[in-house]
Amino acid sequence: MNAPDSMHRSVMLGARLMVVDDEEDLCELIAMRLEHHGYEVVTETSCRGARRVLRHDVVDVLVLDLRLEDGDGLTLLDELRETDPDLPVVILTAHGSIETAVEAMKKGAHSFLTKPFHDHELLATVAQALVGAELRRELAGFRRGSGRSSGTRLLGESPSMIALRERLARVAATDSTVLVTGESGTGKELVARSLHELSHRRKRPCIAVNCAALPPDLLESELFGHVRGAFTSAHRDKDGLLAAAEGGTLFLDEIGDAPPSVQAKLLRVLQERTYLPVGATREKQADVRIIAATNRDLGADIAAGRFREDLFYRLHVVPLHLPPLRERREDILPLSELFLRRASEKHDLGRVRLSPRALEALRAHDWPGNVRELANVVEAAGLLATDGIVELTHVEAALPRPASSSTASFEPRLDVEDLPPMADARQKFERAYLCEVLRRTRGNVSAAARLAGRNRTDLHDLLKRHGIDAADFRN
Ligand SMILES: Nc1ncnc2c1ncn2[C@@H]1O[C@H](COP(=O)(O)OP(=O)(O)OP(=O)(O)O)[C@@H](O)[C@H]1O
Ligand SMILES: [Mg+2]
Repeated sequence: MNAPDSMHRSVMLGARLMVVDDEEDLCELIAMRLEHHGYEVVTETSCRGARRVLRHDVVDVLVLDLRLEDGDGLTLLDELRETDPDLPVVILTAHGSIETAVEAMKKGAHSFLTKPFHDHELLATVAQALVGAELRRELAGFRRGSGRSSGTRLLGESPSMIALRERLARVAATDSTVLVTGESGTGKELVARSLHELSHRRKRPCIAVNCAALPPDLLESELFGHVRGAFTSAHRDKDGLLAAAEGGTLFLDEIGDAPPSVQAKLLRVLQERTYLPVGATREKQADVRIIAATNRDLGADIAAGRFREDLFYRLHVVPLHLPPLRERREDILPLSELFLRRASEKHDLGRVRLSPRALEALRAHDWPGNVRELANVVEAAGLLATDGIVELTHVEAALPRPASSSTASFEPRLDVEDLPPMADARQKFERAYLCEVLRRTRGNVSAAARLAGRNRTDLHDLLKRHGIDAADFRN
C-alpha cells in the first residue's frame, strides 16, 4: 500500500462494500477476505440484485465483475455514472480481457484487478478507493451543508463571521500557515477545510490529525513516518501522514497537545520544509500547507513551558479566531435553519419550520457546546416536531437540562493512558450514545430510532441488551 495504514484505518471504519460477481463461490471468498479485515460486505451475482442494493443501501465501494448472470457490468457502470457518479468502482477482470478493463476505466471506474489476485492487492485497491471516496464524501457533504458559492460555505451573518469569511478568502489563496482558535464546536475544522477547498491545493488531500488523540510516540511516527527497525514493531519503512498530505493540507487539530518531540519536528517543517522520519538519518522534503487549531490558551501553555514560543510564532502567521456562538447570536437563525433542513433531509421529515417562540429560546440559550450543540439540539427538536412546526416545548425538550449540563456536548473521550479493549470501548460508547439519544428525545423510542438511524425493533433490542429503560428518560 502506498498511503499509510493509519489513513486506511481511519477511513475503513464502518465502510460498506458490495461485491458483484456471477461466480457465487468467488463472491463469497472475496467477501470473507474483506470481512476478515473489518469491512461490511454484501454480495450479489446479478445486475438486478446489485441495482436493488444500490437503491436502498449506502455502499462505499463497489467491486464489480464485468460478466454477470443477467447482463454486462459495463452497463451497470454506465447507469452508475448517471445516478451515483462518485461511487468508486473496482473492476474485476479475467486474465486477457484487459481491453474491457481499459474501457471500464474510461467509463470512470476507479481501478481494476486481474484475476487471480492476491489478498494484499485486493485490500490495497479497496483501501485506495475508500480514501478517495472519503475525501469526495467530505467535500460533497460540505457543499451540501454550506451552499455552493464560497461565500456561504461558512454560514453566519454576524459582523464577526462576515469579517472572518473575507479574511479566509484572502488567505486561502496563499500558502500561509494559519492558526485557528476558538472554543469547542465553533467551527475550527470547518474553517480549515474551507481554507483547503478554496486553495490551489484543493485537488490534493486535506488530512486532519488530532494531536490529543494519540500517545506522543505514536503521534510522532504517524505524522512523520518511520524507518524499518526504528522500534520493535517497525518491520518496514512507513510513510507518515505528512507524506500522505504531500501537495495538500495538513490540519493539526488540538495543536496545544502536541508533545515536545513533535513540536520540534513541526518547527523544522515550517522553517525548512524538511523533516526526519522516526529512526531515519536522511531528511525528507515536505510540500504541505499547515493549518493548526486549538481551543486552548497557547499563551498560558507557553508561559508554563508546555508549548514552544518559536513554534507559536511560526503558526501564528495568520490567526483566525472564531468567537463563541453566544457572542454572535445573529448567526443562530441561519444556522438553525440550515440544521433543520439537514435534519429534515436526513430523517425525511418534509418541510419543518421554527415557531417564533422556539427561535426565541434558541437565541436565548448560551450554547456552551457552540455550533455543534446547536446542530444537535435543532436535529432533536426537529424530530419531535408535529405538523412541521418546531414549538417551544420541542426545543425545551431537546435542550440539555441544567442537571445534566455536563453532558451538554456529548462526546465520549477515550482515556489514552489506559486504553480498554475495543469491544469494551464499543459497548461503553454504545451505551452512552443510546442514553444520550433517549435523553434528547425524552424517551420517545420512535424519535430516538430515527435520530440514531435505526429501525424501532433494532433500537428496542439494543436498549434491552444494555438494560436501558426508555421510560427513565420521560420528563
Ligand atoms: N459557520 C458555520 N456554518 C455551518 N456549519 C457550521 C459553522 N460552524 C460550525 N458548523 C458545524 O458545526 C459542527 C462543529 O464544527 P467543527 O467541528 O468545525 O468545530 P470545532 O471548532 O473543530 O470543534 P472542536 O474544538 O470540538 O473540535 C460541524 O458539523 C460544522 O460543520
Ligand atoms: Mg474540531
